Amino acid sequence: MRLFLAIRLSDAVRGALIRVQNDMYDRGVRGRFTPEENLHLTLAFIGEYPEPDDVLDALSGLSFSPFTLRPEGLGCFGDLWWAGMRSSEPLAALARSIRHALSDRGIPFDRKRFSPHVTLLRAAVGKMPGLQPEDVSMTVDSVSLMRSDRGRNGMIYTEIGRIDAC
Ligand code: 2AM
Repeated sequence: MRLFLAIRLSDAVRGALIRVQNDMYDRGVRGRFTPEENLHLTLAFIGEYPEPDDVLDALSGLSFSPFTLRPEGLGCFGDLWWAGMRSSEPLAALARSIRHALSDRGIPFDRKRFSPHVTLLRAAVGKMPGLQPEDVSMTVDSVSLMRSDRGRNGMIYTEIGRIDAC
């Protein structure tokens, strides 16, 4: 089972990101645009791991207060283009706590530095337009354990567990 921990985005934030994708398309950018239902912010990527209950158990002591998340700016890792999320201490602290809890339990995860981004398209072709997502925000009040499966027409992400803020 391929697992990751993520923040699921509100309709308002997803809407703003879809409008950025549409503006890119209108300006001639092509590539594999992330479908609306797949837009998310990954906090930790575990990868293949057979025991989702272990992950939920490892995170059972996680404690965080609701906080505000805002898209801010666009960027790329090669031909993967993303929308950034404004950095904030609560967001960084949440990613840190999750990663510590996984480490303590010996659950493997990708240890690349946390760089809060939502992938908008892959295999991008074109010039990155000077766009900004609209000024929208959402309250983060839970973290989702997601399962990733390869479907006929791309990846299918399914929430299989959730940790709520307190
Ligand atoms: P990406 O969008 O930048 O590729 C599911 O694959 C989620 O986990 C995506 O948000 C993906 O980020 C993220 N992820 C982080 N590290 C990954 C890795 N080593 N392999 C695949 N996905 C990874």
